[in-house]
Parts: sequence; C-alpha cells; structure tokens
Amino acid sequence: MTSERYQFFDQNPKLPNVVEEIKQGLRATPKRISPKYFYDAHGSALFEQITQLPEYYLTRTEISILDENKEKLSHIIDESCCLIEYGSGSSRKVRALINAINPQFYVPVDISREHLNQSARSIHDDFDTLHVYPTCADYTQGVQLPEIIDGAPRCGFFPGSSIGNFEREDALTFLTNISNDIGSGGYCIIGFDSRKPKTIVEPAYNDSLGVTASFNLNLLNHLNRTIGTDFKQSNFDHHAFYDEALGRIEMHLVSKVAQEVTLDGDTFNLSRDESIHTENSYKYSLTEVRELARRAGMSFVTHWEDSQAWFYVVLLRVPESRESTDP
Ligand code: TRP
Repeated sequence: MTSERYQFFDQNPKLPNVVEEIKQGLRATPKRISPKYFYDAHGSALFEQITQLPEYYLTRTEISILDENKEKLSHIIDESCCLIEYGSGSSRKVRALINAINPQFYVPVDISREHLNQSARSIHDDFDTLHVYPTCADYTQGVQLPEIIDGAPRCGFFPGSSIGNFEREDALTFLTNISNDIGSGGYCIIGFDSRKPKTIVEPAYNDSLGVTASFNLNLLNHLNRTIGTDFKQSNFDHHAFYDEALGRIEMHLVSKVAQEVTLDGDTFNLSRDESIHTENSYKYSLTEVRELARRAGMSFVTHWEDSQAWFYVVLLRVPESRESTDP
C-alpha cells in the first residue's frame, strides 16, 4: 500500500551502452570489464555468500563496530535527520542504524530500480514512523535529493568499504559530492577497510570454498546472457592479489588458453595468461582517510574500529557555513 510515508523518486539514471562499453574494455591494454556487471541475481546471491565466509572479515567486522557504537552515534546524530544511503542494495546494515538514530527520513539511493523498491518497502513496513523515499539514481553521477526532505539535517551512509572500489581520486570526487548533498553541518558515516598484512587481506578475496572465484567468473555468464558474448567460463581462472604498495586488492579473470571471444560481430583475442581486470578494492590507513576527508572539505569527527583495527567506521562532518572547498 502506498502511504505518504512512502514515495519512490525515479531519476531515470542513464544506462550505459553496454555492448560499446564491453568492446572498449576488451580492446584496451590491459583488458578490463567494470565490476558493475558482477551483480545479476546470481552474482548478488554469491556476494551475499561472500559476506558470510570466514575469510571475508569485512562485513561482520563492520556490523559489529556499528553495533558497539550505535549509542554514541545516536547522541551525535539528530532524530530529525534524513539518513541517505548510497548504494543501499538490500538495506541490511542500515537497520541497526535506523534503530539507533531513529531518523525522520530514510533515502536509499540505488541504481537497481526493482531491488530498491522492494528493500525500501520492507524498511517502510518494519519502521512505523519512518518516512521512506527511495531514489533511483546512479550515485557515481551525483544524486538529486528529493525536495520533500528540504530543511532536515542530513546524514550520509556509505558502508561496506564500497569507497574502496573507487580509484583514490574518484573516491575524492564521490566524497565531495556527498559533502554537497548533505550540506553545512551534515554528517556522514563511511566504512573503510584498513591497510593490513597481505596474509589477512588476500584470503578474503581467495576463499577456500571458491565463492569469490565463482562470483568473479559469473560476470562472464552474465554478459553472455545479456549482450551475447560467447565467453567460456571454464577457460578462465579467478586471480586476486594484494598490491601492498598501492594498498589494493586487484581482481582478474585470467585466460587459461589462447582464445577468441566474439561480441556483436567483433572478435577479441586473448593470449594464454592474459587477464581481464575486473575490480580493485583499495585499503586505507587512517592518515589516508583524514587526507581524503580534508580534500573533500569535511572534518574528521571520530572513528571506531575493531580490536584488531581491521576495519574503520568513520564519522565525517561538513563544517558549518562552509564557504568553499580547497582542493
Ligand atoms: N566493497 C567490498 C570489497 O571491496 C565488497 C566487494 C565488492 C567485493 N566487490 C567484491 C568482495 C568482489 C569480494 C569480491 O571488499
């Protein structure tokens, strides 16, 4: 049932020309395919499984940090606020936050229209007084927030170390956009995976059950089904490694043999051991987080971490009556 507590805002985010985008990536050196193609229904289910793996410490660590510090958060962040979640997906982590802060509005932003509508509905049904205004938009392109929340103080939420999936400079652009969205005096809560030894971070992306491998490889089937590439999944290996100097995990699909792939009349050659780069996951030191916040024109209020400092939940704020952002 539609009630005034629920309104769906559709910004009709432009979908890319997928065929052209994939062709470009396969023509490039090194070859690359964007991580957004991980997430068909099967990919999303596999990702859910990843978050439960013993090696994948990120999700459970972040949830426990949020849980342990929700009292403190609730004292800082006003009840009258509008909580804006970027890339809300299934809106699972935000529930604890909604419970703690008890905000007036919740604006989940996601590009996947149906999934957004379903998850937002279920939040609406589970929280009696919360106003829920899902906004279908591509958060990497800037979000037009619904006018209906004008006047409410704002708090952004970007969990899951998703910020780590941006290049470092793009993370700055994204954070600057958030800072403009939430405006003077607004807060944001962001999850960062910390820099840590390879022996801990690498297994998180190379689990012993091979779920991450299936997740990476599933991208090929997804493209076969949606745009008609003819990738043979069994001709590729999952390869993920930590580049300590860059502080990032790289995920690749490595061609086991010399092979051809065709798409829409074009042929692409892969030599044996040639890789297609599918994702990066950047890790951050606290110094890097502070620097990022400073460059985005935000102040670093505080952060919380687990006992091993494997994950940081960071609270940033846009200074009141900010005039300009110094790069
Ligand atoms: N952002 C999280 C991370 O980088 C989750 C994630 C995105 C992920 N893509 C992934 C985890 C691919 C495993 C594999 O860890």
